Amino acid sequence: MNTKQKLLKDIFGHDHFRSFQEEVVDTILNKKDVLTILPTGGGKSLCYQLPTLLMSGTTVVISPLIALMQDQIKALKDLNIRAAMISSSQDNNENARTLQALLQGELKFIYVSPERLSSNDFIGVLHRIEINYFVIDEAHCVSAWGHEFRAEYRNLNRLKQFFPTTCVAAFTATATKKVEADIAQSLQLENPKHFRAKTQRDNLEIVCEARVTNGKTQILKFLQTHKGLCGIIYTFTRKEAESTALFLCEKGYSAKAYHAGLSSDVKNEVYEDFVYEKIDIVVATIAFGMGIDKSNIRFVIHTSLPKTLENYYQEIGRAGRDGEMSYVYLLYSKSDEIKRKIQIDEALDVQYKQTALQKLEQMYRYCISGNCRHKIIAAYFDDEIEECKHLCDNCTQGEVELQDISTQAQKYLSAVYRSHQSYGGNHVIDILRGSKNQKIFDANHETLSVYGVGAELSKNEWSVIADKLIDIEAIHLGEFRVQKLSSLGLDILKGNQKVFIEAKRMQPVVNVEEKPEELSLDDEIFEQFKALRKEIALSHEVPAYVIFGDKSLKEIATKLPLTKEAMLDVNGVGEVKFEKYGDAFLALCHEIKETYQDKLEEKPPLRKLTKTYLDTHELLKEAKSIEDIALIRDLGTTTVLSHIQLLFEHGKITQAQKEKLLEPLHIPLGIKHYIEQGLQLGTLKELHHYLSLYEHLYGTKKEEMNNELREY
Ligand SMILES: Nc1ncnc2c1ncn2[C@@H]1O[C@H](COP(=O)(O)OP(=O)(O)OP(=O)(O)O)[C@@H](O)[C@H]1O
Ligand SMILES: [Mg+2]
Ligand SMILES: [Zn+2]
Repeated sequence: MNTKQKLLKDIFGHDHFRSFQEEVVDTILNKKDVLTILPTGGGKSLCYQLPTLLMSGTTVVISPLIALMQDQIKALKDLNIRAAMISSSQDNNENARTLQALLQGELKFIYVSPERLSSNDFIGVLHRIEINYFVIDEAHCVSAWGHEFRAEYRNLNRLKQFFPTTCVAAFTATATKKVEADIAQSLQLENPKHFRAKTQRDNLEIVCEARVTNGKTQILKFLQTHKGLCGIIYTFTRKEAESTALFLCEKGYSAKAYHAGLSSDVKNEVYEDFVYEKIDIVVATIAFGMGIDKSNIRFVIHTSLPKTLENYYQEIGRAGRDGEMSYVYLLYSKSDEIKRKIQIDEALDVQYKQTALQKLEQMYRYCISGNCRHKIIAAYFDDEIEECKHLCDNCTQGEVELQDISTQAQKYLSAVYRSHQSYGGNHVIDILRGSKNQKIFDANHETLSVYGVGAELSKNEWSVIADKLIDIEAIHLGEFRVQKLSSLGLDILKGNQKVFIEAKRMQPVVNVEEKPEELSLDDEIFEQFKALRKEIALSHEVPAYVIFGDKSLKEIATKLPLTKEAMLDVNGVGEVKFEKYGDAFLALCHEIKETYQDKLEEKPPLRKLTKTYLDTHELLKEAKSIEDIALIRDLGTTTVLSHIQLLFEHGKITQAQKEKLLEPLHIPLGIKHYIEQGLQLGTLKELHHYLSLYEHLYGTKKEEMNNELREY
């Protein structure tokens, strides 16, 4: 075993180098400048921690955050490597002791913040010691094109001025080609070696979803399908962090909030609780987690749109650093983009504003895109990869129902064109909807032929269409987000190209005001039914779940049946049950209908019965079977099933009709056993994940699977 390998095993405890680690170590040992871009959790620390053990002298590490330095030092000390930091967070005595040790050559590592390098005294100290090389961690902070530009990092060009013969090793997880070049240039690296790993994290499953109201229900659903895992939830505000943590605690999860508004004692406690696994979930503003080395974080949730894709990539990078499967889930809404924009607009620096807005725009595009998420992120960092196929929602969503929006797209593009491609989306939508906005009259746009031709769609629907057109690059955004047609846009306008959108995106998203502390209406109503069930359970001396299972109870709470017939329609309510408990529940339904009348009317309406559902309904009336309909309409069976469910919810077909339609559907016995066995192991989602994985890995070896199945 060579020395490097031995150190790797004996000191750091790893059997193998990960990609690029050995190459970077060698470059440093050969005293050459190096710029390394490895994904979060890729193992950058080891790249610079190992070589110093093979050299004499001290390594000077420049790192942007005290918390980061502390973690690193703790870890090094644990390996019996002498490391310390000089920082404003320590008292003078401590710093003096460290300086002493440094000057006496007792330290292998000295960690400092970039500010320290602007002090000539400190440069003087460095000149008196033997430095083997400099390390710049989180080097993207050097670049104004990066996402966390730190002015003090600019000082780092002093290193090469004062120490021209000492080599510099720079590291980051996030750098576009532009940022990469900027880093090399700003640090005045000399003919540096560049190492750049693929950006893809192939143990992360990525899901993005439009947020419904405050997203709490979606988070809960996520946690229910990812039981017992630990993770971080990122929120936009401190208040939201607090209220979400509270909400989760009430739901029985062990969660704590973490944000900059807390005292350092509390913050430390939360951090420790998380690291030592006393709690599962930290709900935090971005103040939490940079450089955190808890390697088994299994999920990262964002409750709103991150600032940039770099931020996002770093934040999701905190999940699954141990390489095990982990899950990231992002909830977004158009309103987040607006909020963030307002924040950016407050900045004074025009250049900064432009860059920030552009980055925000890209972040939002990412959310609404239908393309492979891993691929988009990689492309953002100038890295080209294949579609992930099974690790993101867009790749695994299977068959999607598409809606032809070519006509609407033409209207939209025409409005852009006729207003001389000099306006933003809101104005274009105002034209289409025939708005009486003063800006419209100022521009004489009420005289355009397209004025008011789009009144049939809501503002929201038009912005979904606009988003789609931007997403497919039929529209480009110029300065001040002015919309311009691309050649594809022109083609669509001329009717040479069709545009389709996932039908579900055209469904209205209901935005309810955020009321974090309150139970949602559904929950509130459900609680009342639970209370009634409990009461009956006590007086009848039967377990609550025997009276009605949760599923039936939920159905009653949502449908609020007012008659015996309607009540019997609920799954799990038969004559006998109705005989015993029916009246009590009917009475509560009536009572709730009355008390909550107003609120219930505001309740999100059922998904609209658009044409596609009605087409299915027509075929049902012709007594066509589900399979026939799937064939005729060229849809998947599951899509037709979802149509039938919605038709049922709208009362277009009865429960009996629905059941009759489902009757002939069979799942082959082998598959059924297989699924049931699988479900015993975990959730449907997990099963789905492994199915895709299976397909990916062994898809062609169908025989094997069949043989295995026969054993059941
Ligand atoms: N060769 C290796 N084999 C196994 N595990 C490793 C190896 N190298 C590093 N690790 C582990 O990988 C994890 C992440 O390493 P590290 O903190 O260096 O990541 P990083 O690249 O600096 O990420 P970030 O960009 O988030 O700072 C650590 O838990 C570390 O122990
Ligand atoms: Mg690191
Ligand atoms: Zn994908």
